[in-house]
Amino acid sequence: MASAQPFVLRWGIISTGWIASCFVKDALVDPKTRDVQDVGHKVTAVGSRNVDSATKFIAQYANGDSSIKAYGSYAEVFADNNVDAVYIGTPHTYHYENALDAIKAKKHVLCEKPVTSNAAELRSLLAAAKENGVFFMEALWTRFQPLTREVKKIAESGVLGEPVALQADLSGDFGLDKIPKTHRILDPALGGGALLDLGPYPLIWALLALYEHPSNKGSKPSNVTGTMLKTPLTGVDRSTSFTVTFSPTSSSDTNTLSAQAVMSCNINASAYQTGVVIRYERGTIAIAAPIYCPKSFTVQYFQEGKSGTVVKEETRKFEYVGSGWHFQADEVARCVRDGKIQSELWGHDKSLLEMDIFDEVRRQGDYKFPPGVEKVV
Ligand SMILES: NC(=O)c1ccc[n+]([C@@H]2O[C@H](COP(=O)([O-])OP(=O)(O)OC[C@H]3O[C@@H](n4cnc5c(N)ncnc54)[C@H](OP(=O)(O)O)[C@@H]3O)[C@@H](O)[C@H]2O)c1
Repeated sequence: MASAQPFVLRWGIISTGWIASCFVKDALVDPKTRDVQDVGHKVTAVGSRNVDSATKFIAQYANGDSSIKAYGSYAEVFADNNVDAVYIGTPHTYHYENALDAIKAKKHVLCEKPVTSNAAELRSLLAAAKENGVFFMEALWTRFQPLTREVKKIAESGVLGEPVALQADLSGDFGLDKIPKTHRILDPALGGGALLDLGPYPLIWALLALYEHPSNKGSKPSNVTGTMLKTPLTGVDRSTSFTVTFSPTSSSDTNTLSAQAVMSCNINASAYQTGVVIRYERGTIAIAAPIYCPKSFTVQYFQEGKSGTVVKEETRKFEYVGSGWHFQADEVARCVRDGKIQSELWGHDKSLLEMDIFDEVRRQGDYKFPPGVEKVV
């Protein structure tokens, strides 16, 4: 019997910046190289504020495929009947309006992180996606990588006991003194700063290890704290540290998890090893940097009754063709094929929790966007 043809999702790409190029290169990697037979990807349109940029982008990153439409506006991509799903790679503070336009045109949406500027924008987008019956997901690519799925399996197998604490950092030296103040990482009008750009990555590990843990029973954090160090260049956060605590809030609370994540992000320091450490009652999982796309993790098992004495250590390494952005594309294709409006791996609740946490950390850190930047407040 002939094997079923894969479901091919037709993508429209919004913007021609750095991350859009990464996504397209990976989406066009042959899925068989990662043992995926059931879905595939075709780029059918690229939209830019400048049509020449879209044409150049197709030549450079999509093998010059002449069947791909180059558009000088995003609206033309949303109106294209050969586009099923839209990938949005614009700066943070444009995600809301770009995603809303796509949703209203009844396109499925994969939107870069952070999914919006604030939680209110996201709530409004999710309502619009539901009303229009389209799939919507934040492009938190790390959650779909094979390593992450393996960490989750071990973390929830019970072999290490309950999670107790997590430490995670993502830093990157953006050369703040050398880039213009209008660069998206420095410009408050583009949602600049460490928290919104880098914060999703430490947080995704905290949500995976603590929020998703069965003992937590889907409970929201009992406490969130944050502190920000701003750069005098533009006033955006240069370094942010934040904590998220999960613990029962009353005796009738069914959540039995009692654990805390301590996270940090910084835009003027290089990343360091080890990126994430998850500490359990009977061992640790250490995930190697870079924490957005780690290639290995090590599990240490403690001797029974002698907490901290390591009796066994195992390192797992992962390799694949491409850079890791294709796994989220596969997830979108499968969800669209199956008529879902959200992913079970990185569903709407997790993006909402992320944005609620970021709102709270910005409130405590007194980081306000310039008036008009947030489209819904
Ligand atoms: N998942 C990841 O690993 C990852 C990594 C880096 C960034 N990101 C996210 O992706 C988004 C874009 O980051 P990036 O590094 O790709 O940025 P970038 O290189 O500056 O590209 C952003 C693109 O957005 C479009 N755009 C629309 N309005 C704009 C405006 N007012 N100013 C600047 N650009 C505008 C431009 O494309 P056109 O000129 O073609 O319209 C531009 O090329 C951010 O939200 C960031 O958090 C994700």
